[in-house]
Amino acid sequence: MTKKRLLSGIKSTGRTHIGNYFGAMKQWVDLVNDYDSFIMVADYHSLNFVQNAGEMRDLTWNMVIDYLAVGLDPKKVVIFKQSDVSAHTELCWIFDTLITMPFLMRAHAFKDAEAKDKEISVGTFNYPVLMAADILLYGPDVVPVGQDQKQHVEYARDIAEKFNHIFGETFKLPKEMIVENVAVVPGIDGRKMSKSYNNYIPLFAGDDEIEKLCMAIVTDSSGDVPTNVYAIHKLFRSEEELKAIYDEHKGKYKILKEKLIEDVKAFIKPLRDKRRLIAEDTDYIRQVIKEGGERAKEIANKKLVEVKEKIGVN
Ligand code: TYM
Repeated sequence: MTKKRLLSGIKSTGRTHIGNYFGAMKQWVDLVNDYDSFIMVADYHSLNFVQNAGEMRDLTWNMVIDYLAVGLDPKKVVIFKQSDVSAHTELCWIFDTLITMPFLMRAHAFKDAEAKDKEISVGTFNYPVLMAADILLYGPDVVPVGQDQKQHVEYARDIAEKFNHIFGETFKLPKEMIVENVAVVPGIDGRKMSKSYNNYIPLFAGDDEIEKLCMAIVTDSSGDVPTNVYAIHKLFRSEEELKAIYDEHKGKYKILKEKLIEDVKAFIKPLRDKRRLIAEDTDYIRQVIKEGGERAKEIANKKLVEVKEKIGVN
């Protein structure tokens, strides 16, 4: 029996944070034996935000190390760079000719930018289409992501349906996989944890940084349980265990934050240690990227040949 397929990725625009981990990466690692998995670094998506070659290289390289450090085994998972597989941008163009501006103008990210009167790049406007190409080239059954990416996977599904309708059955319709209790991991200010809000706890943060960030968690002044502290703490301990701790230290926000700090440190330290070791082996990292790119290319190019046949440009 062939395994079901999984595809996902992160855009390399900054440091990986615990929202990325609990919302998406943990699922990738947990499901590695059940799915034929493809995990990419979405560097062409990053280009909308990172326009400096040195920084781009550094962020992409570090994202691959992060993937390895959380436990993605390149023997079991195809880890690759989006820009290594030109079929992504090529398919994106093909999709561009089929879909309309009003369809893309419904995207939350576009509407937010409009509401803030921001001038956005065409690449940002077109972001969901490139992501649809990322997904559809590999025919995944599931796309494990956080809640904020749900609409993008829906776009991929709609685009696949439209293509299939015009040119005949070509793309499998993908489904987002969102784990409910971690769909939106909160940041230290209570809003969604996000690189752009600067409210995040890096997944490989140092001990001092963990202390500083946890102490800076915004606490509400009412009630015995500091909501934001608890919401983050829930990622690291069961609610049963937390109940005992939060009952014992009712209303003592500083002590509760110290308890959280202990748990975050205990969770991050082994990841950080593993990451440091991996980062030393640059030949290995280079090999992972090279082999992953080759493997991804094989699959993606096959699909692109089929698409070219269907649209009549072969
Ligand atoms: P990105 O890089 O913003 O985020 C990577 C993953 O982390 C999840 N995530 C969260 N989950 C829960 N709570 C949070 N606070 C939180 N913050 C981030 C995101 O939902 C995402 O799953 N467009 C994508 C990258 C991408 C992609 C793809 C993903 C490009 N092509 C194809 C899947 C398939 C993005 O910007 O995610």
